[in-house]
Amino acid sequence: MPRLPHARETAARVLTHVCEQVDWLDRRSTVAETVRAAAAVLEASEFLRTEDRTQGLAVSALLDRLLDAPSTALGPERLELLAGLRSHVRTLLRQPDWPKAPWADVVVSSAGQDVPTMLTEPTMRFYKWLGGTLSERARIAEFGPWLGSSTRCLCEGMGEPAGQSVDAYDSFVWSGWMDTYVPTRPYGDWPRPGDSFLSLFQETVRPYHPRVVAHPCWIDDSLDSGERPAWDHLELVELLVYDMGPDRALLDIIWEVFSPHFEPERTLLVFNEYGKVHASALWDFCDDHADRLRPRYKPDGTAKAFLYV
Ligand SMILES: C[S@@+](CC[C@H](N)C(=O)[O-])C[C@H]1O[C@@H](n2cnc3c(N)ncnc32)[C@H](O)[C@@H]1O
Repeated sequence: MPRLPHARETAARVLTHVCEQVDWLDRRSTVAETVRAAAAVLEASEFLRTEDRTQGLAVSALLDRLLDAPSTALGPERLELLAGLRSHVRTLLRQPDWPKAPWADVVVSSAGQDVPTMLTEPTMRFYKWLGGTLSERARIAEFGPWLGSSTRCLCEGMGEPAGQSVDAYDSFVWSGWMDTYVPTRPYGDWPRPGDSFLSLFQETVRPYHPRVVAHPCWIDDSLDSGERPAWDHLELVELLVYDMGPDRALLDIIWEVFSPHFEPERTLLVFNEYGKVHASALWDFCDDHADRLRPRYKPDGTAKAFLYV
């Protein structure tokens, strides 16, 4: 995930500039509009993580202010992002409030916490809690486990006897953007872009062998190079965890292959990037399947779980 090299310094300069110029800064000037839009996106990003109603109402008001008299200073792309956010925030505000999270007191083992992860801590607790709610012979399909943090949290929650299984689909091929999430290298020989990291995933889930089965594959929508993941079990999918990015083509393929193996009122689907500002393809996917996907759990972070109905 690309990061601005000096984002912190830039933000500090913007703040200093605005504070110094605030007396004469025209309220509809380019700077004022841009800063206001940036603040709205930051606030929206916070709200998407919590879906807290009070915060949502405030974000909605900020977005209304920017969009009801749109400034040309923002440009069409930013206005489109803001409009998409407003529409999504409004959809979320129509949903019932979230009750207190039953996973709040779950503790992930220190070995589990040591695995490099892209998950927030509450989401890790949620995954462990979720593992404990599954039936004794549950079958789980996970897309995009990366180094196995999410997989391991699910397995930690499952306990014994090990009747459940996780089928984990990933290219298991390292990309440069992944380096950001591994500030200190926990192992000596670290993969470089293009290298397989399958052995690191297997090391993470080794305590749960053989219930975790890795499926190295590159899923995409091109007929010539794309691989279609398959479901080989007789049992239905009890839980599907998707964390391969908000890519509509991927989501459609996975839905096409796996939804025939879902059970209404039983199968849960977790989309780990649902609460990201740029996840509009994922929101659209869930909206298009709203007759089948009922919002069920919202851990603090970007993940959200839906019950298949
Ligand atoms: C955001 S990371 C997942 C983070 C992980 N769930 C965790 O707990 O930290 C996305 C993962 O999806 C995989 N991935 C993304 N697109 C893919 C595709 N089209 N086919 C196969 N794997 C893909 C990447 O290799 C990466 O491991």
